[in-house]
Order: sequence, then structure tokens, then C-alpha cells
Amino acid sequence: MATVSRQKSILLKQFNETRARTLSLVQTLEKDDFVVQTAPFMSPPKWHLGHVSWLLEVVMSKTINNYEFYSQEFSEYLNSYYHQFGEPHDKDKRGLATRPTVDQVFEYFHMMTNKVTNILQNEMLDEKTQQLFFMAINHECQHQELLVYDLQHLLADRYRPLTKNPLPTPSLQESTSIKINGGLYIMGYPGDQFCYDIELPEHKVYLDDYKIDSYPITNKQYMKFVEDGGYDDFKYWLSDGWDKIQNEKWNAPMYWEKIDGQWMTCDFLGKRKINPNDPVCHVSYYEAAAYCKWANKRLPTEAEWEKAACWNEKKQIKTIFPWGNESPDPLHANLLESYLWNCSEIGTYPNGKSHYGCHQMIGDVWEWTSTEFSGYPKFKTGFSEYNDKWFANQKVLRGGSFGTPSISIRGSYRNFFRLDERWLFSGFRCAE
Ligand SMILES: [Fe+2]
Repeated sequence: MATVSRQKSILLKQFNETRARTLSLVQTLEKDDFVVQTAPFMSPPKWHLGHVSWLLEVVMSKTINNYEFYSQEFSEYLNSYYHQFGEPHDKDKRGLATRPTVDQVFEYFHMMTNKVTNILQNEMLDEKTQQLFFMAINHECQHQELLVYDLQHLLADRYRPLTKNPLPTPSLQESTSIKINGGLYIMGYPGDQFCYDIELPEHKVYLDDYKIDSYPITNKQYMKFVEDGGYDDFKYWLSDGWDKIQNEKWNAPMYWEKIDGQWMTCDFLGKRKINPNDPVCHVSYYEAAAYCKWANKRLPTEAEWEKAACWNEKKQIKTIFPWGNESPDPLHANLLESYLWNCSEIGTYPNGKSHYGCHQMIGDVWEWTSTEFSGYPKFKTGFSEYNDKWFANQKVLRGGSFGTPSISIRGSYRNFFRLDERWLFSGFRCAE
């Protein structure tokens, strides 16, 4: 019973903090900013605010008898891809809807916050219901990160964050390739707090001995591939990737542009020269795989990545994070609450390194792995249409980025995207 009420107080605290964080991300926007969709892959801020609130209604509809949704019109617009709740609105037309209005979406946001707060404070919740509300909080964290990607695309340095901290100074180190002994590894989430269905069950995998980079690949390293004609030679590319870069005329990571012989990028820090010591960001799986081929290396599998991050060979234990089991703080990793609004240079987080000496596995950039996204052996779905309907044509990324809220990341977390997507904060490290 004590555990149940402890869980409930964690739930209420996380819920309040998460709702407040969502509002803080949009607090400095102009009203006009809320409605605009600048690319088919992004969503207007208004939609994110409404959608995370609508998902609270979804959870209430699963846990309250005869629950009635607030509005049919809202449900149609705010449904992302859940066919069980009717035909979703077209994703690439979210920016064409002037109804519900921004004011109505804010009103709806607060209404749902109050409704759920009331439930969390006053109702007895069984474990299954608590898990569903934890899922809704984690879902909102995922949308906070998507909102950050979208704000970069929409506004770049015209976005005025409520909090912006100075970039920390790195104690720069040369990247090395770390040897890791193979053998049986038990993969998956080992803790007793919330995790997604796709992180379970823990299961054995056999790994050969392997090597993995101590840091993510930097802009300086990636630029060598670009300047060596990496985007002009089919021999480095998967067939689909080669077609993609030909059709889209890609010649560098997203947001890169060559001006007067100088590679520039455009992000929350403005239009500026690329920092050679930042991890490379905004690369697709195809680009990560091509770089590896050019470098005579390969991407790690997700099991190799997780073992390098979370296994302590000396103590023979697996930890939740590379540095141990303590929750992340800004000395461990660059996550959303560091509020740097950019990657930090490699070598910035010695306190966050893993037992094996791998740095920045949590935070900065998501890292592509070579693993196809699918269920672990004996996988059981936790929530219909959330994760498992994406078990095809996606690759797993690990570790979180500078846009990931800290309560929502752990070593076992599995993100997934299509192989050609790169508007997320995505990078990689190599293995051998
Ligand atoms: Fe969603």
C-alpha cells in the first residue's frame, strides 16, 4: 500500500512538472507562431498542445466508464494516428486548420490539466491506471522534444527560450575505440519505475567481442566524409539511401549550407559556422550508415550500444544510466533541462561516462543503431497502436538528445524513426 501511494505522489509530481514544462516551452511564442506548419514532418505548436491534452482524454476513456470526449471536432483534429478513435486528420495539413483556435486549445489544455489533477489527487488508482497515466506523462515528454525540433524549424534563433544557459566548457579528449568483451548480456529495462512496453522483457542476447567509439562522431569527422566526396559516390550508400540523396539533392546533414567555401548551419544559436567539436546532428540512418562504410566501420547494434552504456563489468551489474542509477542532472548529460538549446562539444561530461569509458551516451544527440525496430522476445503490447504498430521499416536510436526531458530517458529507452528522417537531433557513434 505504501508503494502504491508513493507511486501516486510521484505520478502527481511528474504530471504537474510536465504540464508546466509544456507551457514554459511556448510561453514566449507570438500567437501567429502557434498555427504555422513549415514542413510536412513538423506540427504547429497549437497541435502539440492540444494533442498531449487529448491523449489524457484517451487514458480517461480507458479507465472511466462511459467517458465522453470533450468535443468530436477536437478529437478529429488532435488524433495523431489512433484508428481506434476514428479517422485521424492529415498530418501534413495540421497547419491549415484555424479551428480549434489557439485560445480554445489553451482552454482545453487547462481543462484537461484540472480534470487529471483532480483524479490523481482524489481517486484510488489501481496499478494499471497508474501505468496509463505514467504513459501519458511520458508521451507528453516525447511531444515536448518534438516541439523543440519543430520550433527550430519554425523559428531557429528567433525563438526566445525562457531559460538559456551558457554552453559548458569541455575538457576535450581524442576519441578512441573501446574494446568490449562479448558474451551473454541481459538486455532491457531492469528497474521498477515506468518504462515502455518495448523495453521489456529483459532477455539474453549473445554478443561477440566488439569495439565502440568513446564519443559520438563529430562535425569535424563528418565533414571529412563530405569533403571526400562521400555524397557523390554510390559505393558508400545503401540503395534506398542513394536514391534518397539523389532525389532530395542532399549533400550534407540537414540545416548545413556551404557559403563562400565555409560550412554553416542554422539552429537555435542562429546562422553560424559549424562547430567542429560538436557531435554531428541531423543525419538520417542512410547518412550514418554511409559514413561508417566510408570509415571502414559500422553502426553498433542496439544491444552493443546498451551494454557499452549500462553494463559494469567489474561489479557485474547493469545500471539504469551510464553513470549509475541516479537520475540525470546537468553534470551528467545535456538534456532538455540543461536548457543549452544546442549540442555540447565532445568531452563536456566526464561525470556521465559509462563503466567502459563511453561519453555522452545520454543526451546531446540520439544515436542510430543498426537494429531494426521490433519487439523483444515474448513482447506483450502495453497500449494498442502506441509502439508496436511501428514494428516495420524503422531503425532504433538510443540515448536521448538535448531536447529530451530528463524524466523520460534511460539506458534501455528505444526510440525509432524511418531511415530517411533527420529533422530530429540524430547522430551516431561507430563500432567495429
Ligand atoms: Fe503523440
